[in-house]
Amino acid sequence: MIDSENISVMNIKNNNFPPEGSGGFIDIHCHCLADFDDGPSNISESILLCRALVEDNISFVVATPHQLGRFDGVNEAQAVRDAVNKLNSILNDLEIPVKVVPGGEVRADERICQFIEDDKILTLADSRRYILIELPHQVFIDIEPMIRALVSMDIYPVISHVERIPTLTKEPDILSRWIGDFAYLQITASSLSGDFGLEAERDAWDLLTSGWAHLVATDAHNVNSRRPKMKNAYELISRRLGEDLANRVCIHNPLRVLQGKDILSKSIIEESRIGL
Ligand SMILES: [Fe+2]
Repeated sequence: MIDSENISVMNIKNNNFPPEGSGGFIDIHCHCLADFDDGPSNISESILLCRALVEDNISFVVATPHQLGRFDGVNEAQAVRDAVNKLNSILNDLEIPVKVVPGGEVRADERICQFIEDDKILTLADSRRYILIELPHQVFIDIEPMIRALVSMDIYPVISHVERIPTLTKEPDILSRWIGDFAYLQITASSLSGDFGLEAERDAWDLLTSGWAHLVATDAHNVNSRRPKMKNAYELISRRLGEDLANRVCIHNPLRVLQGKDILSKSIIEESRIGL
């Protein structure tokens, strides 16, 4: 697990976060490892993407190569950890100030719990607290049994880029039930400025406005069509829905995932009346 001492909580209390040179954003979903999936195909591209993360004021990134689905049998946990160590060493040598931690974007699969036990797939930041789950875009599957099985292991699913899955956003009752079962929803930073089309943009804003989106992440793959846009997302959310929400979904909750702490949800905030 990441050493939380390295992350300045003081910085996230600053309303002007993230000031240049401060702690920076935490990105919990990024394809920054070379030669694993549809992210960088070599180490040079990986370094370029890491430089783009730094430009976007991201100081910690969870490397989330695709696991299972079309990557079944490859990209296993120890290979990801080894690649993360290698990339951190290169970044350190090049004085590129971003720290990479291991994770995965795991295709929904009924074998997930067993694969966690067998150390084949990774939880976010390798903390055994949250796992990033990807659902198919074209067909709807009800993952409630999988959510419950994971939660019974005290591991909480984060559903990736929900706004880009029309079969899911058309099922608000089911999404609501999943959230009630302790699943959390992640949306893509660049969807908020329309990079994935009007429908995804509208659904991303609807999920934020309703309080159902818990986390914003880049899902960056490269420095061209899929580059990180966290700063832009933070500014857009601050302007349209207020700084409290921008802080919660772009700063506080990603930090909590990294630290393995409880994610702040709308119901928790309403119950406790805290201002985050
Ligand atoms: Fe992804």
